[in-house]
Amino acid sequence: MPAAPPSIPRHIAIIMDGNGRWAKARGLARIKGHEEGANAVRACVEACGELKVEFLTLYAFSAENWRRPKGEVFALMRLLEKFLKEKTPELQEKNVRLQAIGRLTDLPASCQRQLHESIESTARNDGLTLVLALSYGARLEIIDGIHSLLRELEGGHIDKAMIDVKMFSKHLYTRYYPDPDLLIRTSGEMRLSNFLLWQLSYTEMYVTPKLWPDFRKEDLFAAVEEFRQRQRRYGGV
Ligand code: FPP
Repeated sequence: MPAAPPSIPRHIAIIMDGNGRWAKARGLARIKGHEEGANAVRACVEACGELKVEFLTLYAFSAENWRRPKGEVFALMRLLEKFLKEKTPELQEKNVRLQAIGRLTDLPASCQRQLHESIESTARNDGLTLVLALSYGARLEIIDGIHSLLRELEGGHIDKAMIDVKMFSKHLYTRYYPDPDLLIRTSGEMRLSNFLLWQLSYTEMYVTPKLWPDFRKEDLFAAVEEFRQRQRRYGGV
């Protein structure tokens, strides 16, 4: 895969927030906001493809989202399955490779089946990698990473002295991806909400008051434009 042009982020992560408020403002059920939010994903994938961004990670369902009312959780799972079923041919056409991170076995069986089918059928694409964070929580990811590291240690495959940042990163769900360069959060909230806590250490943040269902290609371009003006120092001068 050719490298992205300089100063275009290689990896963009997005906290898609504000679906509920978008629906409420229109007197609609919350799920309508999620449905409109699923449509906004399409524009975003297209924009990333045009910019030659290599990885796009979307926070689609957090480990904490299971606490929402049963009806909303059910509707979100159905929406996810429908989205995957309907959009996989389009992902193919756009040369997008789909992947997922999180405790995927928590998802309903039919959703898991569709997810694996979509991942499998796009596995040979070499354009944008679209990563869906599903039943994802960063603290759980770190705990899972520690367990994985301990298994290697107890199996005698590694020595304690070998444990460093690089090695630990290889035990996270995100081991195949570079850390995000740019994090976008919609709806004006200034929180990380348990998203990629390890990986976002040096990521540039961009928060927009726009609600996710209103997020368009131009909004992604504006975020990237602002990113290009930033000076990244990684703790140096
Ligand atoms: C946050 O809005 C959004 C979510 C919890 C789910 C995100 C899901 C989608 C964008 C649609 C499905 C996505 C895919 C990839 C098919 P919120 O409900 O917390 O909004 P609020 O803070 O205004 O209540």
